Amino acid sequence: MTHVPVIAIDGPAASGKGTIAAAAAAALGFHYLDSGSLYRLVAFKALQGGVPFDDAGRLAPLAAALDVRFLAGGRLLLDGEDATSAIREEAVSAGASQVAVHASVRAALIERQRALRRLPGLVADGRDMGTVVFPDADLKVFLTATAEERASRRHKQLITKGISVTLDSLLRDIRERDERDASRQAAPLRPAGDAVLLDTTHLSIDEAVGRVLAMYRTRKNK
Ligand code: C5P
Repeated sequence: MTHVPVIAIDGPAASGKGTIAAAAAAALGFHYLDSGSLYRLVAFKALQGGVPFDDAGRLAPLAAALDVRFLAGGRLLLDGEDATSAIREEAVSAGASQVAVHASVRAALIERQRALRRLPGLVADGRDMGTVVFPDADLKVFLTATAEERASRRHKQLITKGISVTLDSLLRDIRERDERDASRQAAPLRPAGDAVLLDTTHLSIDEAVGRVLAMYRTRKNK
């Protein structure tokens, strides 16, 4: 079978994974998977349907039946309607990390993620890309940055969108989310044994993307 290369980029909330992974995918001409969007979509559907975030029995079928289409430019359609910004709301962010603790929800999403591994290659970002979904990835990067730096980046992002939130509340949300993602039993957030750690606290986006591409090229040429 033809080998389809995968670059797995994992890390905590607001570590820049999405931006870095999408830019690396564009530079290589690879497909891009934002796996967090799937957990966000499950949380969004749960909110719409009044399904509690702890009701795994109802959440798993909802995850399995997601009608989602990923469009070019990072937009996505849920049940045929644009849900790109709706799933970025803070309530959905918090909900996503709660629905993601359930092993049955994770299992319902795994094949959908693997199906996106297509030529010429895939860059996938999330929490368990390197540990669970693509354990044979060609390159695994685990991004880190201090919680303060991540909260401040998110704060700037939201301000430019005209959304007003305090830095303190963002820092609290990020710490809560980190704690929940790292302490859950099913696919907890942790670097794969063979992942390269990349601390982005003092790196620009371009520098971080450059590092990922350089690592990938070095491996490919070995
Ligand atoms: O990456 P993003 O912040 O969009 O992810 C939202 C939530 O989805 C995370 O806090 C995490 O709980 C969950 N998630 C996950 N596994 C992934 C991607 C996201 O558990 N691969």
